[in-house]
Amino acid sequence: MKFTKITQQHILDLEQILGKDSVYTQSEIRQDYGSDETEDLSFPPDVVVKPSTTVDVSAIMKYCYQHNIAVTPIGARTGLSGGALSVYGGVGLSMEKFNKIIEVDTLNQQVTTETGVITQVLQEEVAKHGLYYPPDPSSRGSCFIGGNLAENSGGPRAVKYGVTKDFVLSLEVVLPDGEIIQTGARTLKNSTGYNLTQLMVGSEGTLGIITKATLKLVPMPRYQLLLLVPFYSEEKACEAVSAIFRAGITPSALEFMERDAIDWVLRFVDDVTVPVEADIRAHLLIEVDGNHLESLMLDCEKITEVIQQYDCGEVLFADDDAQKNQLWKLRRKVAEAVKANSVYKEEDTVVPRYQLPKLLKGVKEIGSRYGFQSVCYGHAGDGNLHVNIIRGDLSEKTWDDELPKAIREIFTLCVNLGGTLSGEHGIGLVQKNYMDIAFTERSLSVMKGIKATFDPLGILNPGKIVPD
Ligand code: LAC
Ligand code: ZN
Repeated sequence: MKFTKITQQHILDLEQILGKDSVYTQSEIRQDYGSDETEDLSFPPDVVVKPSTTVDVSAIMKYCYQHNIAVTPIGARTGLSGGALSVYGGVGLSMEKFNKIIEVDTLNQQVTTETGVITQVLQEEVAKHGLYYPPDPSSRGSCFIGGNLAENSGGPRAVKYGVTKDFVLSLEVVLPDGEIIQTGARTLKNSTGYNLTQLMVGSEGTLGIITKATLKLVPMPRYQLLLLVPFYSEEKACEAVSAIFRAGITPSALEFMERDAIDWVLRFVDDVTVPVEADIRAHLLIEVDGNHLESLMLDCEKITEVIQQYDCGEVLFADDDAQKNQLWKLRRKVAEAVKANSVYKEEDTVVPRYQLPKLLKGVKEIGSRYGFQSVCYGHAGDGNLHVNIIRGDLSEKTWDDELPKAIREIFTLCVNLGGTLSGEHGIGLVQKNYMDIAFTERSLSVMKGIKATFDPLGILNPGKIVPD
């Protein structure tokens, strides 16, 4: 791909459009905006811009479109597939100034927000009105709603409530040529033309820049009960997952952590203590929520009865908010704990729920054949297993040449089990060369055609999703 190289004149023009104090060329700033949470990758943009309004974004896009300059939208840089990396340099467009919640519409149970708002900030704001925005990635304390929209993020509550896409009613989007469009409507039903809203969600910043979103909310459930269940076998823990649903229970979270995941977090954070017996191999963290305590207690009893058949240890029932927060911290900190230990490659595998035991077994078998260690955890209720392949002391040759073959085997296994390549982290930069496993040539060419319709010059977030 050939893009125009940024010159001093371009910088002056961008300063003219945005004001000097919203355009940055300092090396440290470019470095900062050149990495996210993906491995140790670094692709700094040539210039970072921080627009504050949709009109600003539109003006930048018009300018870059005219001059054939690559633009990479940048959120909070918590992504795990390299979606915010400026792989062709050019302009890094940070959305951090889009940090206003515009309206909490309590009558319709909706929120309209700018997209640089931190997910947890939005959740806490709507909670003041007794409302709940369930999608909550582990990075919810720092990630942006815009990034969640771009990646179609999920998180633990997806298993009951759905992922980001299930909450999006309408979007304001700046197209690559600078035109501004609205998609969808503020209605719960919509059968009106092609669904551009859902096309934008999960498009990883390659089709347009989402500047505003109207999201659906649900009433805040009054009670959340949380259980931590140890198992003597990883596979048995995975088998218990679908059994719980088959017993008629839909937990509001059903998370899996293998032994290493929990051990690494316990070493990484100071203020969480959970006793774990030596021969425990995995845990399930199970939450049920609702408005009627007695009925939730019955759900917990039923869950406890079901899991007894899967070789579990003593169930820890979190009895106050402090303990619930500790257990959630334990789960949410896994990615950071792994990263603190070693560089790793994240494979966001997903299969139909019942196939989870086969996926885990297959991943471990592939790992032992190729000689890598993996730490597996994730949203078991969704069949979504985060496979963290640990770099440790693997040689550069193994990491660069052998691992892609192993990853190809893992993804082939996922597809053969009825699954796909990513549940909630996106394809971005690092998984695009595996897209042929999940899609035929024809499907990939339809995707390329969609990209060309939105972005004929290919300037917006180039180098992502589809193989070059
Ligand atoms: C999690 C992120 C990595 O589940 O998706 O912790
Ligand atoms: Zn996750």
